[in-house]
Amino acid sequence: MTMRINWAVKFGACLLALAVMLLWSAPAQAQSAGEKVYKAKCAGCHGPDGTAATAAGKATKTPSVCTEEAAKATDADWTEIITKGKNKMPAYDKKLTEAEIKDVIAYMRSLCKK
Ligand code: HEC
Repeated sequence: MTMRINWAVKFGACLLALAVMLLWSAPAQAQSAGEKVYKAKCAGCHGPDGTAATAAGKATKTPSVCTEEAAKATDADWTEIITKGKNKMPAYDKKLTEAEIKDVIAYMRSLCKK
């Protein structure tokens, strides 16, 4: 009998742990797709804030996306650079979907509006 109660307690604890895990992961899901892609693949060079003030950003001469020049570039210009690459900027046409590129551009634009 005690065996059974033990099992029920363990099962309950498991469910509780699962619920806690789900609650914890909820804020991560609230992150936009663009933000996720940016932080995983782009922030190394472009910097978490888009100003490219990281070691890799300096080494690759990555420009800040918060300049007047960058503000003038259209989404089409940026899509072209992201898909085809430019100088040290890698091409992402095989690594990102069109939707992801659109989202990541929106996220990069939002970085400078703070
Ligand atoms: C290895 C470093 C590196 C990584 C990683 C990188 N970039 Fe870049 N990026 C650059 C460099 C360098 C340039 C400037 C290219 C040029 O004009 O010579 C650039 C330019 C750009 C531009 C044009 C606007 C500007 O600031 O000149 C956009 C948009 C951009 N990158 C988006 C991205 C996105 C989105 C990702 C991730 C999916 C990414 N980059 C990852 C190095 C990088």
